[in-house]
Amino acid sequence: MISVSSRLQETKEYYFSKKLREVAQLKKQGKPIINLGIGSPDLAPPQDVTEELMKAMQAPGAYQYQAYKGIDELREAMCNFYQTHYKVDVNPDSQVLPLMGSKEGIALISMAFLNEGDEVLVPNPGYPTYQAATKLLNAKLISYDLMEENSWHPDVEALQNMDLSRVKLMWINYPNMPTGETADREKLQDLIRFAKANSILLVNDNPYSMVLTDEKFSIFQLKGAHDVCLELNSLSKSFNLAGFRVGFLMGNSEFILAVLKVKSNMDSGMFFPIQKAAAKALNLDLSWFARQNDIYKSRRALVWDICEALHLTVNKNAVGLFVWAKINSTLSAEELADELLYGKGIFVTPGTVFGDNGANYVRFSLCVSEDELEVCKHRILKPKAV
Ligand SMILES: Cc1ncc(COP(=O)(O)O)c(C=O)c1O
Repeated sequence: MISVSSRLQETKEYYFSKKLREVAQLKKQGKPIINLGIGSPDLAPPQDVTEELMKAMQAPGAYQYQAYKGIDELREAMCNFYQTHYKVDVNPDSQVLPLMGSKEGIALISMAFLNEGDEVLVPNPGYPTYQAATKLLNAKLISYDLMEENSWHPDVEALQNMDLSRVKLMWINYPNMPTGETADREKLQDLIRFAKANSILLVNDNPYSMVLTDEKFSIFQLKGAHDVCLELNSLSKSFNLAGFRVGFLMGNSEFILAVLKVKSNMDSGMFFPIQKAAAKALNLDLSWFARQNDIYKSRRALVWDICEALHLTVNKNAVGLFVWAKINSTLSAEELADELLYGKGIFVTPGTVFGDNGANYVRFSLCVSEDELEVCKHRILKPKAV
């Protein structure tokens, strides 16, 4: 018998990979399921970007292997994006690395910095891939609490009281998913001091900074970040290009080189037309984001109505592509999610997917049309099941 590695036995299939099979099965049975579970933008990418993609398909050499660290034009566009929107200077030759989405970055950073047994601070609630990458490398997961009463930020004092001798890496994610919390600069400045004092690599995963936010946050706006921080960013949500698989990593040249060392052994460059099109997207002006955010604002207002009808509490100052809603009954997050899926044909994500601190919450995605959200609202308000 051929057995899988022991590290894989430790790893569960990704929640959505499993749950979406169940949703597909219900759809096959004729149930009109509306998917408010997953954050895959349904809106079209910018037209200039798709046109650039098509044009670049005809370029000589478009189908050849590409440079491991991407074409100059793409890295320059990434740095220009950081200068324009975050007022952060990054050197395109040494401080940026194009990636196949920020998800790839989570795996590569883990491979570049973790030894077996190293400890990793992972947010609870948080994006499940931080945990999965840690476990796949036989590093030790140390979950740290994000609590509503601490505005979903790490409690630095509590962290300082832990045994930190084996902690090598800490994941943070502001603007935050799933809670929609914005970055508190003072608290994050404290966290950088903490990371520096304890030689911990602090990685901010930053794919939501252009969605429904007024203030564009980057960890590199804070003092001392270049010494101990890396930041991931992505075109998936900002430009509706999730299927393109383009993200990037910013940080000091030593850290970037370490990650490039792993990446250059794992793949052989990004498809040329995707790089050209991504560069086009990154150079778009603010009007693109304004149009997107107007649509998301209208959708979010409908999701708030749905939450009110379900007696869920939301934070109306939250940002990003989701609404994180608190359950005010004795129902668990899974029970409510199943009640909505099987009773109303509405798929939402139970907060427990992001850790046990999400047990009293469900997450709604804004990646569905206003028409579909109106249908959801109607289904919830009418007593008859779907
Ligand atoms: C917090 C967070 N990080 C990373 C990702 C992955 O993004 P990408 O499409 O860039 O891999 C997601 C996607 O949903 C996310 O929510």
